Amino acid sequence: MTPDRVSFGYREVTPEEKKRLVRQQFDPIATTYDLADAVLSAGLDELWRKKGISLLGLNDGDRVLDLCGGTGDFALLAAGRTGDHSRVIIYDFNRKMMEVGRRKIRRSPRGDNILCIQGDAECIAFADESFEAVTLGFGLRNFVHPELGLKEIYRVLKPGGRLLVLEFSLPARRGLRSLYHFYSFRVMPLVARLISGTDGPYRYLAESIRVFPPPTEVVGIIRRVGFQDVCFQRVSQGLATLYTARKEKPEF
Ligand SMILES: C[S@@+](CC[C@H](N)C(=O)[O-])C[C@H]1O[C@@H](n2cnc3c(N)ncnc32)[C@H](O)[C@@H]1O
Repeated sequence: MTPDRVSFGYREVTPEEKKRLVRQQFDPIATTYDLADAVLSAGLDELWRKKGISLLGLNDGDRVLDLCGGTGDFALLAAGRTGDHSRVIIYDFNRKMMEVGRRKIRRSPRGDNILCIQGDAECIAFADESFEAVTLGFGLRNFVHPELGLKEIYRVLKPGGRLLVLEFSLPARRGLRSLYHFYSFRVMPLVARLISGTDGPYRYLAESIRVFPPPTEVVGIIRRVGFQDVCFQRVSQGLATLYTARKEKPEF
């Protein structure tokens, strides 16, 4: 049974409303998303993605799906590691985010290997067992039904295929948590407003991080879906967490 109310930050809304609100909130911030991301995380976001991609262990020729790919940073990193004959798909329901990404992709030496597809990551328009790897950067928190979304990912992965999830989390240490609280509710909206001209999406960001389950619970959800070798690693004192998992490969 899927719930009829889900959280959108601190608000309870219908699943349809959450989907619409999430999709729309990236429109006004798409052109400044990369700058705001880099400034607000002091450049850590890029380090987290690089670390995540190295954990994924990509091989030449792999087909990679970058779900909730936005402006394509994970896709660009993946394309740099999968050789000339790879295919990397950015899959996102916000067109503006992908349009911003396309400018970066055109400048990239492996840009020809990257395709953008507009669609809902919780209902993926690909056949079963289409990909060797899936990346999901800052997307799981935005899902209406995280467990169903993870089931979709499981479906499109080939047996033995790998999943990488990067998601914000709360610092493990209490002192740092209070500081982070001050930063995310007082400082971040101000800086975001200066960069993007709006702070609404960043208030949602701060709230949604707080209502999202802690890493130990997220690991449980990933396992329930059927994934194996599920691991998580906190980065930067727990400001974000990297999750890795593998779809079972039948033994013959
Ligand atoms: C915070 S951005 C992250 C972008 C990128 N992955 C990164 O690492 O910077 C979240 C992205 O997820 C997309 N998104 C959220 N829910 C989605 C869904 N159900 N289907 C497709 N895209 C979704 C949004 O449109 C947005 O571009």
